[in-house]
Amino acid sequence: MMTTILKKLTCLFISFSIIGLLKAQKQLTVFANKPVTEVPSTMWGVFFEDINFSADGGLYAELIKNRSFEFSTPLMGWKEIKPKTGTGKLLIMNQGAISPQNSRFANIKINTTNSPYGLSNEGFRGIGVTRGKQYRFSILARKAEATDVNIRVELINASGAKIGEARIDTVSDKWVRHNVIFTVTATENKARFNVLFEGKGCIDVDMISLFPVDTWKNRPFGLRADLVQMLADLKPNFVRFPGGCIVEGRELETRYQWKKTVGEPENRTPIVNRWNTEFKHRLTADYYQTFGLGFFEYFQLSEDLGAEPLPILNCGMACQYNTSEVAPIDQLNTYIQDALDLVEFANGADTTKWGKLRSGMGHPKPFNLKMLGVGNEQWDEQYIERYKEFEKAFKARYPEIKLVAAAGPSPSGPRFDYLWAEFKKLSPNFLDEHYYQPSQWFFNNASRYDNYDRKGPKVFAGEYAAHNKDVDDPEGKNTWLSALSEAAFMTGLERNAEVVQMSSYAPLLAHVDAWQWRPDLIWFDNLRAIATPNYFVQKLFSVNKGTHVVPVLEEGKILAGKDSIYACSTIDRKAGVVIIKVVNNSPKNAPVIFKIEGVALLNKPGTIDVLTANNLTDFNTLKEPQKVAPQQNAIKANKNTLAVSLAPSSFNVFRLPYKN
Ligand code: AHR
Repeated sequence: MMTTILKKLTCLFISFSIIGLLKAQKQLTVFANKPVTEVPSTMWGVFFEDINFSADGGLYAELIKNRSFEFSTPLMGWKEIKPKTGTGKLLIMNQGAISPQNSRFANIKINTTNSPYGLSNEGFRGIGVTRGKQYRFSILARKAEATDVNIRVELINASGAKIGEARIDTVSDKWVRHNVIFTVTATENKARFNVLFEGKGCIDVDMISLFPVDTWKNRPFGLRADLVQMLADLKPNFVRFPGGCIVEGRELETRYQWKKTVGEPENRTPIVNRWNTEFKHRLTADYYQTFGLGFFEYFQLSEDLGAEPLPILNCGMACQYNTSEVAPIDQLNTYIQDALDLVEFANGADTTKWGKLRSGMGHPKPFNLKMLGVGNEQWDEQYIERYKEFEKAFKARYPEIKLVAAAGPSPSGPRFDYLWAEFKKLSPNFLDEHYYQPSQWFFNNASRYDNYDRKGPKVFAGEYAAHNKDVDDPEGKNTWLSALSEAAFMTGLERNAEVVQMSSYAPLLAHVDAWQWRPDLIWFDNLRAIATPNYFVQKLFSVNKGTHVVPVLEEGKILAGKDSIYACSTIDRKAGVVIIKVVNNSPKNAPVIFKIEGVALLNKPGTIDVLTANNLTDFNTLKEPQKVAPQQNAIKANKNTLAVSLAPSSFNVFRLPYKN
């Protein structure tokens, strides 16, 4: 398969004699000294939502599901292990009155001699562990009465063999967090974790937890390093969080409330995940949010990635596809105050209430929050009424914070038109447009922004993905066709960076065994992660951003689908490189001549990255993760002219060094 692609790629570099070409080939001119606009520092970002097990079971590296028994069924994810001889009993205690955030714990009474009583956790569709790696078991425990009980834990692989173990011998009368690190002896994608109690007496336990020691930046109780690395490789300019519809909640009661996601993890109250039973064909009853990945961690992640944080907050409206519940205008203050307090949490001095909390969590310096979204996919008058109240409060208190308003769930139609017209009368900095559409829509809309008003709010292409026919494999909707059409569309985003100043593909992550929505940018199981063709398209745009948009024209016209070619161009003034991005959406080779005007190309090779596939229906899977992946080669212009033949159905990024 790879050989076929390589064969295809070799035809890219056929150089043509200029004379013979002039008639047959398209000639595209890049006006490198005529910048249209700077490429915004926020241009290419990522959209994170806790959907598809993206947080618990995904980015958040906790391996135990329902660690504090707070799911509505307290033993969901757990199974009791009965002793062969002796007795063992479990009570789920509820101390809501004194600890409302984490009200339940397990009270275990045992009298065992030769075989233990225990609780076995199934993890998130199994537990992924790697041979030779260290894992940190931790547990909150106290003796409930005079007792002689020890705790032993073991990891069991799919065949029932023990692949790791540790023990805690002494438990005190007070609640204490016990930690023990142990090494795993075999790799397993679907292990179970047994917590075993031996001896005689009664013990209370809570927050039963297992994390890899090797997390992102080795932070204890941190994030899954391989997944964060994939985000880091995208070099995102911003991170939008926490969604998505999860911001809205199905009803206001289950909306995302950032204040409940900060502070000590055991004091963050888990709630049901709104994607839990959203889709009848993908019911996921065990999908909850523990908020171990909460707003502090989102800010920290953004900082780690060198990206601007972009939180989106509830505006007093639950999902309009579900309940459409709204908070009365005269009770909106709670929601507005939450938003104002978030700015204090992110940016405030540690003399302020919320700044002090951030500082106490280990980040004395501000996170430097600059933008904030008000509502997700809202629409109609009730949204405008509520948005106005937020805008008023922010203009008064934090006029420097840029506000993002929503343009509804669709890219056109009466709701969309209404919102745009209304928002032009107000002052949001960005309007968040969403498009989940077939590939053809993306090809057709490559020039969508060419005539957008440059004076109104800027566009945030906040959620988009090409949705085509269903295929059985989980990753089967992330076809090369979908990615190619997004690349074509993105040439239009970059060309119009004057008005489109932020964009992000959605959703970002999906567990192959626990997804609700697809396509998605990155697929993973309990041990591995794979990039989709769509990921590679995002990455090629992002790492080849450039500093200024410059025109690339054919006979004075932009290229947005004529003869199946889509193109945009930037220059990177710091690096001294002309960057051209071109999609060939035809099943044939496309011979093209680029003429670079306004700068002198250096007499040295540049590069071409080519992303293509044998078939438009190809996609990457855990078994074949590199089926569709970019290939880089050297390429050299002849003075300021470059003649190439673009591979059929390909996305190409040229980098040509010039004399700076
Ligand atoms: O990305 C998945 C969902 O699509 C988001 O939660 C929502 O904003 C949109 O409808």
